[in-house]
Amino acid sequence: MGIHFGVDYYPEHWPKKRWERDAQLMKELGIQVVRMGEFSWFKMEPEEEKFNFSWLEEAISILDKYGIKTILGTPTAAPPAWIIEKNPEIQPIDKTGKRRYFGGRHHDCQSNKVYREHIKRFVEAYSSNFSSNSGVIGWQIDNELGNSHGDLCMCDNCKQRFQDWLKRKYNTIEELNLAWGTVFWSQGYNNFNQIMPPLVTVTGENPSQLLDWKCFCSDLIVDFAKMQVEIIRKNCPNHFITHNYMCFDDKVNYYDLAELLDFVSNDIYPAGNWQKQPNQPYNEMAACHDVIRSYKKRSFWMMEQQTGIAGWATMGRALNPGESSAWAMQSIAHGADAIVFFRWRACAYGTEQYWHGILGHSGRPGRIYDEIKNMISRIKPFMDDFEGSIPKTEVGIVHSFRQNYAIQIQPNHPELKYVEHLHCYYKPLFNRNVPVDFITENEDFSKYKLIIAPLQYLMNSELENKYFEYVKNGGNLVLDMRAGVKDDNNVCMTEYELPGRLGELLGIEIPEYDCLFEHNCEVRYENEDYSVFKWADIIDIKGAKTVAYYSSDIFYKNSPAITENRYGKGHAYYIGTEPSEKLMQKIIDRIIEKNNIKVLGESTDGVDISERQKNGRKWIFVTNLTNKDQEYELSEELKMLVGERKNKLKPYEAQLFINQ
Ligand code: GLA
Ligand code: ZN
Repeated sequence: MGIHFGVDYYPEHWPKKRWERDAQLMKELGIQVVRMGEFSWFKMEPEEEKFNFSWLEEAISILDKYGIKTILGTPTAAPPAWIIEKNPEIQPIDKTGKRRYFGGRHHDCQSNKVYREHIKRFVEAYSSNFSSNSGVIGWQIDNELGNSHGDLCMCDNCKQRFQDWLKRKYNTIEELNLAWGTVFWSQGYNNFNQIMPPLVTVTGENPSQLLDWKCFCSDLIVDFAKMQVEIIRKNCPNHFITHNYMCFDDKVNYYDLAELLDFVSNDIYPAGNWQKQPNQPYNEMAACHDVIRSYKKRSFWMMEQQTGIAGWATMGRALNPGESSAWAMQSIAHGADAIVFFRWRACAYGTEQYWHGILGHSGRPGRIYDEIKNMISRIKPFMDDFEGSIPKTEVGIVHSFRQNYAIQIQPNHPELKYVEHLHCYYKPLFNRNVPVDFITENEDFSKYKLIIAPLQYLMNSELENKYFEYVKNGGNLVLDMRAGVKDDNNVCMTEYELPGRLGELLGIEIPEYDCLFEHNCEVRYENEDYSVFKWADIIDIKGAKTVAYYSSDIFYKNSPAITENRYGKGHAYYIGTEPSEKLMQKIIDRIIEKNNIKVLGESTDGVDISERQKNGRKWIFVTNLTNKDQEYELSEELKMLVGERKNKLKPYEAQLFINQ
């Protein structure tokens, strides 16, 4: 496409006479695209069916004159007051049964038919109006679907839709009663009409019902997006369609949503507006980019890349010189084809007054503008070449929305969080500069040398078989605590000891376990003791080798905590606890070395080494995400395209290499 840099632009927040100046400044910066319109329903339809697109057409044409194209957002995350006045029932009901009102955003019920009619009317008019506008190249559906929606709406429409969803899934109420185990606490249903969304109860909830509810909500959001995608595809066959994701956010299954889109986009704010210093760790940012690339297994866009201080009522940090461009470079390194910076200029009013942009309130270019201009001029000349490229990965981390939901519903340990637990594995791989994909349980495992499948809590025979096959044929698999506890209905399995049939693959059995509530436990690995957290599986060996064992003075002292088993041509590892960072690094290093897994180089902390490949060409990106000088070494001899001194990095410096 040849478009690589953009800004999120809100011309409607500024007088028209400023627009031309904005376009000039953007052009000088190297901007080729803007995203507009995703929160301007009222400006575009101030009264029912009285459309006013002329202001937007004008903005598009000024920008187009400067060679800047437009992505239009559908403004369906903020229906205007006149819609709410006419149909107050579209405002969502929260889990306490109370209505949430107009005045912020996301004040909508996504199953409500009346609201959907409003959307159809608007998106139909909007997309046909801009279908042949030469300035427009694509669309963003809604904005951050799932954001602010808590457990989504629990109104009567949603109840009805949930019941229909359950009928399709279970057919008969008897099936549902069995699957949910409603015999417990007299929760049996006579018919689907009795089933409620999970509104606040007096005490306790049914975990099976909660899991279905979360999956239902995800499907509802996908359906909500699909309705808009269909209209735009019909009216604008030459435009692309994307959506701005939020990394690992879990309200909607992003793999499912990706099927509707041409490519996935992401929003990232490493220094948030409420987080304490320091900002999001480098490894989490890297994981975020990798998961975004993984949702569609292709390169992606950053639709909102932080450029300045973030803030609503309170503010986050000022970014160090070079920091914002290093973040953008890290996005590119992990597979972004385009970076759209949020936002062009800080707005003078509204909730996000303190969410700063490339320009401050005054609109005068300053430090951030100059910095981004410099960064764009250095990297842009190479971006057409590596557009569409992605890394060649040997390691896959299994990432499942359903497992995440089940762990949220019953964390087992109060601090066990699914995504945080994935990061425990990702981080030591990041530290060693190993390219990683996230994969779903449905993907082809055979192309990976190593698959790490954390918290495989919900299990079924099909997935078990996949794991058996994978290892039998030479794969290396890591499974860990709470694997094989439940079936797909979130009901405990009873046929075997834990970890169910996978015990045979792992060469172990787990007759007992200990939730490490207030005490931590120690594990001995290669003659040294390390802390472990949250959980201790008490393992019986049934053929596996002990890799580490509990060393604390506890009744299961000396029983295995980590094991390794040869099965067929491969190896299956089991980690019955959450190891400290140090121990996890040792274990991952052991597996990497033993299996000869590709590392891109060696680097000090806070340096990201990543690759992208296409048609036999390979680009290596080295990004210093810290404010200090750093050093690194690459595993192979490559030609430097961008950078000053090989093996040395200045604060926030990014370098680029190529293999030919
Ligand atoms: C999000 C949204 C934007 C804006 C920014 C800043 O990521 O997509 O509309 O609200 O955050 O708050
Ligand atoms: Zn609803």
